[in-house]
Amino acid sequence: MKEQLKEQIDIIDGYLDKYLSEKDNPQSVIYKAMRYSVFAGGKRLRPILMMNVCEMCGGDVKEIIPFACAMEMIHTYSLIHDDLPAMDNDDLRRGIPTSHIKFGEATAILAGDALLNKAFEIVSDYSGTNPERALNAINILAVSSGTEGMIGGQIVDMESEGKDITLEELKYLHLNKTGAIIRSACAIGALMAGASEKEMTAVDNFALNLGVAFQIQDDILDVIGSEEELGKPIGSDAEENKNTYVKIAGLEEAKKMSEEYSFKAKNSLAGFGGKADFLLKLTDYLTLRRY
Ligand code: IPE
Ligand code: IPE
Ligand code: MG
Ligand code: MG
Ligand code: MG
Repeated sequence: MKEQLKEQIDIIDGYLDKYLSEKDNPQSVIYKAMRYSVFAGGKRLRPILMMNVCEMCGGDVKEIIPFACAMEMIHTYSLIHDDLPAMDNDDLRRGIPTSHIKFGEATAILAGDALLNKAFEIVSDYSGTNPERALNAINILAVSSGTEGMIGGQIVDMESEGKDITLEELKYLHLNKTGAIIRSACAIGALMAGASEKEMTAVDNFALNLGVAFQIQDDILDVIGSEEELGKPIGSDAEENKNTYVKIAGLEEAKKMSEEYSFKAKNSLAGFGGKADFLLKLTDYLTLRRY
C-alpha cells in the first residue's frame, strides 16, 4: 500500500510543481509561501481519492489532474488558515513550522488566499474532452469548500468551542469541515469518469462515511498520536476547547465509531466488485493510520 501511495503522490506532486512554478517578479515571496506549505508533505488523500474513484468508474485520470491539484491547493489553504493564531493557533504542520511562523501572519493569510485563487484559475482553464462535466465539477469544488461545506464546518467548529454539543451536532461539524471536501473529491472523480446515477450515489455514500471516519481518527490521533509521526502538535484540540469524538464519546467509543463508519464506507462500494479493491484497502489503511 505504501509503495502504491508513494507512486501516486509523485504523480500529483509533479503536476503541482508545474502549476505552482515560481516567478521572478516583485511578488515572488507569495510563490515561495504557497510552495512551502504545499510541498511540506501531506498524504495527498483527496487527489488520491479522486484519481482512484475516477479509475474505478472507468474514467481517464488525465481528465481530472487539474481538479486533483486544485483540491490539494484548497485543502492546503484550509490548513494554513486553520493553523493561524486566530484559529487553532498551531505552530507545526506537515512536520515543519506553520506558514505564519515561517513567513508571518499577513503572508500566511495571503498564501492561503492565493492557493484558493490558483485552484480556480487551474480548473477554469480546463481543456479536456468534456467541458460540460468540468463546469459541473468546478461548481462542486466551489460549493464543497464554501459556506455549505468546509468553511461552514470550520465556523461551526469555532462557534462550538467550549460548549457542550451532542454527537449529532458533532457529526454535522465533521461532515462539513472535513467530509465536504472528501466527498467532492470523490464526486468529481466519478462525475468526470461519466459514472451513472447509481454509481454516483454509491461513491457518495462511500465518501460520506469515509470523511467522518477520517476526522474521528484525526481527533483520536490528537490525543494518542505522536507529534513526530503526525507532523503536527498533539493536544491541540483540548487546548482550544474543541469538541471531538474523543471528548464527547471517549477514546474507546471513538475508535469503535471510526471502525463502524469505515465499515459502512467499504460496504457502499460492494457494487463495484474487484474494481474497488484499492479504495477498500485505502479505507482500512486510513482507519489504522498513525499520521
Ligand atoms: C488534516 O488533513 C486536516 C483534516 C481535515 C483532518 P490531512 O490529515 O489529510 O492532512 P495532510 O494533507 O496529510 O497534511
Ligand atoms: C481542520 O480540522 C479541518 C480543516 C478544514 C482544515 P482540524 O483543526 O482538526 O485539523 P488539524 O488537526 O489541525 O489538522
Ligand atoms: Mg481546526
Ligand atoms: Mg487544526
Ligand atoms: Mg484535528
